[in-house]
This record gives sequence, C-alpha cells and structure tokens, in this order.
Amino acid sequence: MFTAAEEFFELFERENDAVGALAARRRWVRAEIEATGTYVHTTAELVFGARVAWRNSARCIGRLYWKSLRVRDFRAIRGSAAVADRCVDHLRFATNGGRVRPTISVFAADSIDRRGPRIWNEQLIRYAGYRTEDGGVLGDPRYLEFTEAVRALGWRPPEQPGAFDVLPLVIDTEEEGTRWFELPSAVVHEVELTHPDLPWFAELGLRWHTVPAISNMSLVIGGVEYAAAPFNGWYMGTEIGARNLADQDRYAMLPEVARRMGLDTSHEQTLWKDRALVELNRAVLHSYAQADATITDHHTESERFLTHLAREEKAGRSCPADWSWIVPPVSGGLTPVFHRYYDTEQLWPNFVLGDEAASRGTQGAPARPPRRPETADDGVFSMFGLPLAAN
Ligand code: ARG
Repeated sequence: MFTAAEEFFELFERENDAVGALAARRRWVRAEIEATGTYVHTTAELVFGARVAWRNSARCIGRLYWKSLRVRDFRAIRGSAAVADRCVDHLRFATNGGRVRPTISVFAADSIDRRGPRIWNEQLIRYAGYRTEDGGVLGDPRYLEFTEAVRALGWRPPEQPGAFDVLPLVIDTEEEGTRWFELPSAVVHEVELTHPDLPWFAELGLRWHTVPAISNMSLVIGGVEYAAAPFNGWYMGTEIGARNLADQDRYAMLPEVARRMGLDTSHEQTLWKDRALVELNRAVLHSYAQADATITDHHTESERFLTHLAREEKAGRSCPADWSWIVPPVSGGLTPVFHRYYDTEQLWPNFVLGDEAASRGTQGAPARPPRRPETADDGVFSMFGLPLAAN
C-alpha cells in the first residue's frame, strides 16, 4: 500500500503542475495508512486517478478522449438501493439522449472493518438468456447462468420472454446481502437495427443498447481498490456487429443474415460469413447514426488511436496496448493499428477484473446472508496482484 501510494503521488505531482510538491500530503497519507490500513483520496486525486486508469487500459482502442472522462464521486454511498439509484442516474447522465458521455461513478472502497458494495453485473445493461424447450437459447447465451441466478434471487422475466430482456442490477453489500433492482426502461436507451438498403433486415427484430457500462471491474488508484466503479465510453460498431450479434456463442446471426441475403452457404469458399458480417456491421453503424446515438467505426477509431499514441509519445509516456484487443475483429489489416507492435507493461492506476468478479458477472453467485469480514486478510485488502481474467 505504501509503495503504490508513493508511486501514485509521484505521478500526480509530475502531471499536475498546479498542485506543486505534495510533501505534507504524502506524510498525511503515510500516517493514515499506518493508522487505518488505507487512505482516502481527495476529489482531485480521484478524478486524475480514474482518467489515468482509462489511459492505461491496454485493451481499449478509444483512449484518445481519456481527459474528458466525467468522474462522479459516490464514495459516501454504501446502501444497495442508493447504489442502484446512482447507477440509474449514471445511465441517464451518460446516455445524454444518445450523445454518449464517457462517465465513471465511484462508490465506497473497502475499509479495514467494512466491505464496500459490489455490482454483480458485467455491465449495467445486459440482456437475459433463456434455455428454450428445443435445447436452444432465447436472448444472450452469455448470460444464461446469470439469468438463472437472478431468477433464484426472485427476479421474474417478462410474461412473454424475448431476445432482448434487460437484466436487473444485482448489488451485493455487507449489510444487506444480495439484492436486485429492475432498471427503469426510461434509462435503457436502445437502437432498433435496420439496414441502409436491405429492407428485410428490420424483420430480424435486432436491437442493442446505446451505452456499454462495465460494472464488475475494480478501479485501482495508488493501492486503493474501488470494486464498484461502473464506467462507460461509447460503442465501436464492431463490438456489436462483429461480436455480440455474430459470435457463435452469442446471438450467432450470420447464418440467418446470409440466408436472407440469398448467399450460397454450402461451402466456406463463398465467403458467405464475411459477406453477411459486413452487412450486419453496416446495419449497426447506419441504425445508430439514424437514431442520433453515438457510435464509431473501426477505421475512424484506429486512426484516433494512433493519434493518441503519438500524443502519449510526445508527452514522454509509454502507452501499453494489447494487440489482440486493439485490432478490430473485422478487416484488421485494413486498419493502421494492425501493422505494428505495442508496449505491453502494466501501468497504474488501472482497471482490473478479479476472478470472483468475473464469475459473478456471468454466473452470478448463490445468495448468501450478510456477513462481516473477521480479519483484514479475508479478502478486504486484495488490491494487489489481482489477475486480469482472459475474456
Ligand atoms: N465489448 C463490450 C460490449 O460489446 C463493451 C466493452 C466496452 N466498450 C466500449 N466501447 N467502451 O458490450
């Protein structure tokens, strides 16, 4: 904790001329850690730390705008209903009628005698998945088990279950255990998918949500772990068109799109998958644009990322990037980000996905009674060495 805090304050000093030398603040923090096992960031430290955590996110291609991240300080909030309420408000603010604002909401961190809240969901908005009678899946197969888990907590799907039923938020606190909260439909901005020149496309009944808000990763600043800190940017079209709706273990729409396009799907060499994939991605970009909902394409975003790299280099900083995540899942070689390598070291502050949070995010977990941690080492101070789960 001491070293991580020291390193953070060095960075904070180096990058914020206005704050000057922080000798007194550092002494205070040392004493605070000695007395309480942790310390409390000032608002300025939190805002800077959250923005730099985004800047250091090696898998994110959209980091050019890291300085514009809106940081909402909810560290005083611990009750599950209040957490859910602020998440709803996060969506309202971040959605902004479709013109998405990159935003993070930071809730209470763990302290020596009290665990902060946890959000089970991988994202604030996700679609339920149901096993159908014929052994197939209705909805998002990624959330089959999560959907089962929230049903076990008492959530009921709509009377007529559909392919895009929004899951409830599941909040876990030490005092109240695990509780779920329905998201008001007014804050779930969605886009119905149509195609610029294939009229039948609308009949597929596809849609997606406008705001991707990751809610099970921890924000780690100077050794302090904020386990509940949902954050969002805006979508790059391929995330929806080339993954969520295309992956075989997600909505797997390519065979149906190809069939409607009248393509020869009898063998691979017709490239029917590739052709269907392009039209699906055109539909996503077209529909979001029509709906005035923020979206970006992979060509534009690749260029922006190179601009970001150049800026970081000019500022004398290394910019870690994970090639396998940065290169878009379609037309990789058409984008400039394909044709080079990147620094790969892990920098702090950053976002981390712990093993437990990762499994809660897709499988949920059994409801358990509220408990108090007995000792400081039963997980409360797990801020170091959290493994990044492979996704
Ligand atoms: N790929 C994830 C999804 O499809 C979202 C990850 C974050 N994406 C973003 N553009 N900020 O939901």
